[in-house]
Amino acid sequence: MGYEFTLDDVAFLRGRYGEKALDVVSGMALTPSSMIADVEAARRRYAPHDAALIETVRDRRRAARKLRDADQWLLTDDALQQATPSVVAAHRAAEIAQRFPGAVIHDITCSIGGEVVELASQDGIAGVIGSDLDHVRLSMAQHNRRVLGQLPTPTALLVADALTPTSTADVVIADPARRSGAGRIFRLDQLTPPLPDVLMTYSGRVVIVKCAPGLDYRALRNRFGFTGEVQITSLDGGVREACLWSGPGIVDRTRATVLRTGSDGVVGGFEVTDDEPDDVDQHGPVGRWIVDPDGAVVRAGLVRQYAARHGLRQLDPQIAYLTGEQVPLGERGFEVIEEVSTSEKVLRKTLAAHDCGTLEILVRGLDVDPDALRKRLRLKGSRSLALVLTRIGRKGVGFLCEAGARAR
Ligand SMILES: C[S@@+](CC[C@H](N)C(=O)[O-])C[C@H]1O[C@@H](n2cnc3c(N)ncnc32)[C@H](O)[C@@H]1O
Repeated sequence: MGYEFTLDDVAFLRGRYGEKALDVVSGMALTPSSMIADVEAARRRYAPHDAALIETVRDRRRAARKLRDADQWLLTDDALQQATPSVVAAHRAAEIAQRFPGAVIHDITCSIGGEVVELASQDGIAGVIGSDLDHVRLSMAQHNRRVLGQLPTPTALLVADALTPTSTADVVIADPARRSGAGRIFRLDQLTPPLPDVLMTYSGRVVIVKCAPGLDYRALRNRFGFTGEVQITSLDGGVREACLWSGPGIVDRTRATVLRTGSDGVVGGFEVTDDEPDDVDQHGPVGRWIVDPDGAVVRAGLVRQYAARHGLRQLDPQIAYLTGEQVPLGERGFEVIEEVSTSEKVLRKTLAAHDCGTLEILVRGLDVDPDALRKRLRLKGSRSLALVLTRIGRKGVGFLCEAGARAR
């Protein structure tokens, strides 16, 4: 929980004098050793907005890995944590523009405008509406849209309750927040606004709802009768969200969207869907490589489709590790050296014989804590290797591999 901005703070930050003050404060180190002096200097020049200035600069620095042009946003610590990463929001906006050309899009929980600025940067969208209950965030969104939206797409930003329709937009986007107090395990009705209410309020329109990656989408389909598309998205190896697409023209399907930022900053990736063939060998012997598919593919339950696409096979039908003679381009593969025992005593000897000093341990289907095991193995050698621990049928198996490498 960071500083609580007031509307007055935001008006100051959006004004000419506020912009200049932000330039000055962004030149301050704001480190633990300089903080007392920096706070004092900011207070002398800019009270009563000194805390808002310092918080904005700190939030912008924290935002650098998540939001594009982070040094131009107005934001709060909480809003930053809740914001969709720019790469994911831009990918969604591009897809919306392509699937619904000429549509008006309404983000009914727009917060500081993470999705709005990306929608307002897409060709082919007729208009963007953003609304939220929080006046402060909305005022920040107005600034962010002006500074960061790259096209003159007509945009309206207003305070409104998501559950009271305020537009006739063709496409509605929502990103319900987790109600405070709801723990890691939360129910759909603990979201705010609650997911079932959003789907009900806008039924008959295209509704796109961003949810936490842990959403039990199978239960949503089987128990709550959700029909539409479930999209699981990862960014640079981390699963970021489960997004539900429903409404006219949207068919029932599940897909995984894998987004990866290259070393040149360009975002690439791929998609796998459940329309694809999934006919793969499910009990194959281990091949030259073991491949650990991206978390989005695993979470979306599309490991077999991914394997079929790349000519890989499963080691076991219940386990997500794949094996084959080559690694799909851009993926991380582990070249198998030999099958090894899972007994710690034998493993210790085998690893010493291979002069292993650094070991990446990958586990699926066995109850093993990789960090604790690594400590107990007491590695002293000089080679970096990888150990894949899993089960085939009921039997635990281990594969000692070369350190993981991405196929180019
Ligand atoms: C997770 S945040 C949205 C983040 C946004 N997608 C982004 O990328 O910046 C959820 C937002 O929903 C808003 N909210 C919660 N309940 C609402 C309601 N009933 N009507 C409108 N907005 C609501 C909160 O104020 C919060 O800003």
